[in-house]
Amino acid sequence: MYRILIVLCIFLYIFHAEVRGEEPEVVPAEQEKEKSELAKLMSEIDTNYKAVEVMSGWYKYKKKHWKIILESGQNMVLLTKSIRRKFSRPDDWTYQELMEKMQIAAKEMVEIAKNSDKEGSLEDTQWQVRLLRRTCAKCHKHLDIHIYPQLYKKKPKEVPPVP
Ligand code: HEC
Repeated sequence: MYRILIVLCIFLYIFHAEVRGEEPEVVPAEQEKEKSELAKLMSEIDTNYKAVEVMSGWYKYKKKHWKIILESGQNMVLLTKSIRRKFSRPDDWTYQELMEKMQIAAKEMVEIAKNSDKEGSLEDTQWQVRLLRRTCAKCHKHLDIHIYPQLYKKKPKEVPPVP
């Protein structure tokens, strides 16, 4: 008898879950899809950015750190390229420009990491990290996206002059 009850309960639970799953979506499917994919690419950018950001206060990088910088830079270039291709916003010039700037800074970082033996490569990388951070902060501010409050923190000595 108990068994039948348990089976019945499981069945009811599954049935209930199925019905719930069929509730109509509030957000139009098309929009929802676009949003989540962009957000996914963004959080990958975020992961790569953070990998270099944690090292940005260091005074020396070893080979393995340069490798991280190289790979993160390459990833960010690819991710930004794909965002620019799939989610361009021709009616929003600021967005377009900042997205391009992010790609340029990431590309620059790759070049620096490839020539890490050169004098000043450490400072050059850290400079690119700052440029990156500026693009993140500026674009999110522009779009009123409030994640990552530390990106907006004023760091007068670190923020490079506006070009
Ligand atoms: C040119 C504009 C632009 C730039 C530059 C930019 N972002 Fe974003 N970011 C967005 C937009 C738009 C979203 C919202 C995506 C969505 O939810 O559809 C977003 C969302 C995010 C999110 C939230 C993702 C999630 O899981 O919902 C993170 C994290 C993020 N960005 C990190 C970064 C970092 C780190 C940088 C810089 C290295 C950066 N972004 C640069 C436009 C930008």
